[in-house]
Amino acid sequence: MSELKTPHAGDDLAKDDDVVSLLMRQHGDIRNLFDEVEATRGEERRDAFRRLVRLLAVHETAEEEVVHPFARKGFPGGEQVVKDRLAEEKAAKETLAALDELDTDDPKFMPQLLKLRKDVQEHARAEERYEFTHIRRSTDVTGLAAMAKAIKAAEAMAPTRPHPGVESGAKNMALGPVAALMDRTKDTVRKAMGK
Ligand SMILES: [Fe+2]
Ligand SMILES: [Fe+2]
Repeated sequence: MSELKTPHAGDDLAKDDDVVSLLMRQHGDIRNLFDEVEATRGEERRDAFRRLVRLLAVHETAEEEVVHPFARKGFPGGEQVVKDRLAEEKAAKETLAALDELDTDDPKFMPQLLKLRKDVQEHARAEERYEFTHIRRSTDVTGLAAMAKAIKAAEAMAPTRPHPGVESGAKNMALGPVAALMDRTKDTVRKAMGK
């Protein structure tokens, strides 16, 4: 494996300009939203779940557009690492689709949510361990910042805080809007990367 390039990603790097710090912070935001969904009921839970679905959709799509393509070629074994991560993301999306069919107060909702949480957490841990550490080692500051810019552009589409005045009668988010959100995220990310 090649030695670290200079300048490398050191502590002097602003958190927002480091794609790895940014994605790890989003992993934390996702954890907090799972907590919020678990701790609430009724309309509040519905709103928290919508924000969770949104952030998950935007986060995974941005990773698929920005860091996975880099990791595939960026370090030895990257190809296999990305293949494993994509399989996990696919499984999580299937659980998410099953969950999306249910009302958030349905008795079947919570067991499915806990399954999704477990899948998502294991996936995030594997990314941090097998992918992100290598990305940091094999990318210079400019590369990390360019990828961070694209992730930040995507993030603007997924507010993590509650909206003032939850739309009444709004059902749980159907898959249609999620698929559309993923498409819009792809466009936003590609534009931010100058593609
Ligand atoms: Fe991911
Ligand atoms: Fe992730």
